[in-house]
Amino acid sequence: PKVKNWDDLYLYHYQGTWYHSRCINGVISFQNNFQAEDSDVILATFPKSGTTWLKALTFAIVHRSRYPLEKSPLLTSSPHDLVPFLEFDLYMKSPFPSFEHIPTPRILSTHMPCGSLPKSILNSNCRVVYMCRNPMDQFISHWTFYHGLGDQTSDPLPLEEAFEMICQGVQSYGPIWTQILDYWNASKAQPGKILFLKYEDLMKGDIVSYVKQIAEFLGCPFSESEETQGVVEEISKLCSFDNMKNLEVNKSGKQPGGAKNDTFFRKGIVGDWKNYLTPAMSERLEKLMEEKLHGSGLTFKTS
Ligand code: A3P
Repeated sequence: PKVKNWDDLYLYHYQGTWYHSRCINGVISFQNNFQAEDSDVILATFPKSGTTWLKALTFAIVHRSRYPLEKSPLLTSSPHDLVPFLEFDLYMKSPFPSFEHIPTPRILSTHMPCGSLPKSILNSNCRVVYMCRNPMDQFISHWTFYHGLGDQTSDPLPLEEAFEMICQGVQSYGPIWTQILDYWNASKAQPGKILFLKYEDLMKGDIVSYVKQIAEFLGCPFSESEETQGVVEEISKLCSFDNMKNLEVNKSGKQPGGAKNDTFFRKGIVGDWKNYLTPAMSERLEKLMEEKLHGSGLTFKTS
């Protein structure tokens, strides 16, 4: 089955998930061709849930010996150029890319649900870091992103219509609740394999403790001397929204697929949905999420 997406292109239903026409071929190619290595780090996210931030943090953490922070490639390259997507080929390359240019350990990213990842990811010793975001901010971030892309054949759907679709679970990589639960359950079953993070926790909590948690999970904990020298704080600062947004490459650069780098840095706050959704809409989505996540123990901070 297929339906029209917010941007007038199509979404295809495949293995229980809605995929954008721009990535459906990449999804199948990824599933058929990707060979994970034990040292790989896979960053999995629902779109607009902090992918760019997680890419920057993980790159800075994992490659801190190779690239001292004052010379970090993050200062001159978009996190999306340093950590490519596996199935959504921003480079529009074909056949499946080799990722030869990616330093080891390879950091790669995907928006696909855990259950649809290639077997080699699940069967190898590579690790997966998953980040999700409260569905209300995710929706607004996604909807505004479509507006900002500026390469559409027609205007994106009005907010109310797009909202109706997401409540039916119809959105790129949706339903959101299915994906979040998928990774949540998998992380409970395999805590050493999958680290489950929430955007709001990193935004509202102590970012330094999350940087340490990611490093420990990936098997590259900070040494005492690194901690004394303030490396953890430096990484947190380097990857902060204000710092990244103001880097020249993120202000003026473009992705090979056409998206402008600045569209990945909008407001970077928790609770912007209040400026867009009516009380009736937010109540509906909150109730829907409560129903869908019932019994899982999973909740979200929305403000
Ligand atoms: P908003 O649109 O709410 O501002 P993704 O990277 O998955 O596409 O998600 C984009 C969202 O993450 C955007 O949210 C963007 O502003 C926010 N973001 C990007 N970089 C960030 C950073 N370094 N820290 C916090 N949020 C960031």
